[in-house]
Amino acid sequence: MQQILLKIMQDFQANAPLHSGLNYDEIKSRLEPFTVDEPGGIEGVTEAIDAYLETSVHTGHPGFLRAFWGASEPASIVASLLSDVRNTTMHSFAVAPSATIIETEMIKAISNLAGFPGHGIFTTGGSNSNEMGFLCAREDALPGSSKTGINGFHLRAFASSEAHYSVDAAANMMGIGTDALIRVPCINGKMNPEALDEAILKEKQNGNLPFIVLSTAGTTVRGCFDDLEAISEIAQRHGIWHHVDAAWGGAALFSKKHIGLLKGIEKADSFAFDAHKMIGSSMVCSAFLVHDDSILPRTMAHTKQGDYLFDDPNRELSLGRISPQCGRRADALKLWLSWIELGKKGLGERVDSCIGVSEHLSNLVKKHPKLTLISYSFSNVCIRFTPSPNETIEQGNHRVRMARNYLEDHAKSMVLDSILDNQLVIRFTASHPNVNKDAVEKFLADLVDADEKISL
Ligand SMILES: Cc1ncc(COP(=O)(O)O)c(C=O)c1O
Repeated sequence: MQQILLKIMQDFQANAPLHSGLNYDEIKSRLEPFTVDEPGGIEGVTEAIDAYLETSVHTGHPGFLRAFWGASEPASIVASLLSDVRNTTMHSFAVAPSATIIETEMIKAISNLAGFPGHGIFTTGGSNSNEMGFLCAREDALPGSSKTGINGFHLRAFASSEAHYSVDAAANMMGIGTDALIRVPCINGKMNPEALDEAILKEKQNGNLPFIVLSTAGTTVRGCFDDLEAISEIAQRHGIWHHVDAAWGGAALFSKKHIGLLKGIEKADSFAFDAHKMIGSSMVCSAFLVHDDSILPRTMAHTKQGDYLFDDPNRELSLGRISPQCGRRADALKLWLSWIELGKKGLGERVDSCIGVSEHLSNLVKKHPKLTLISYSFSNVCIRFTPSPNETIEQGNHRVRMARNYLEDHAKSMVLDSILDNQLVIRFTASHPNVNKDAVEKFLADLVDADEKISL
């Protein structure tokens, strides 16, 4: 087992290709057999691991530019293993005493960076943290609704037109439906506060009950930050909950240089923060933070005294009382060990490096005659090819899609394309430190080259 673990740990330093280039059937046959009748022993396990490492995407590669995560911090990988070694669940203090204390301290530490008092819970990801925001907002608007349901009230939620689709998921899963989510228009990628105010008034006049506004700190495509102060003021004036989706941009809390992007976050009622994105904790490591320490116990009021899990003497310390999960991994360990390893300083430098190389790329794009910078904010750079004379939007879209596919097919880089203002753009993002200055310069050269190759 020790040898196997060493081998896995070495993988993230390996000079492995970005991906195997194999298709579904080829990967499947490389991974076979999936189940065996006779014990395969350590040899069988080793072979299976080799097959997995060979056929999975090397997300620590400098060309992995597609997602908000990539190479995770070594200490975080070890923490993940540590959590498995003492295999436990977070529902009660009795079975997870140290993990409960670590999670509680991590909640306090993240809160402290944001000017929050220190209450919250680790969740299954940013989507789930946003959903928790919706549930707390519902309980705040309709006290006791965890028991009674929403009793025919027509609840209305508000988020910008560029907010992540997990907002739709939250509206769907809490049972109000996605029609109850009003998408507020943006100006240059940021929610228009005046339009928000008008939309809330309109819904009130129509007899509906606005209960939450979700702002975004770091949008998925453009990396834009909504005006958190203006939105808090509007939410407070209308008496509705303000939740900030800082799943992506929350990493700026660690950076002295960029923390100003989150100005006003302390005025919100709750926020979502993903340490498994730019901070480099391995999947998943996400927290939901609140101001009011009574809201989570009220929202999760179904976790009754006398329940089989919570009858130990330390019931009040058991985090299962304020979580929708029963079995839950000790995910906070991943942030804990990487925070100890790198300090706030090192984690902040990780963020500064990602933002710094993205800025460098955006400057290069601006100067490049064959490329057009569509938008740049935080670590997100959106690019189109400069149109040739008489080129239609559709032809431009086709160039973007073909270039993206070319880069991926040739294992040069993996990057996302996405619709922005009705046109397809290359969305570059740097979320791990292997994406350095050389990597973005190579990406730029490869992108221009891809466009030339596909137009031949
Ligand atoms: C702005 C934003 N919020 C929430 C999420 C969802 O986060 P998770 O993947 O942790 O559920 C994402 C994912 O990229 C995101 O970009």
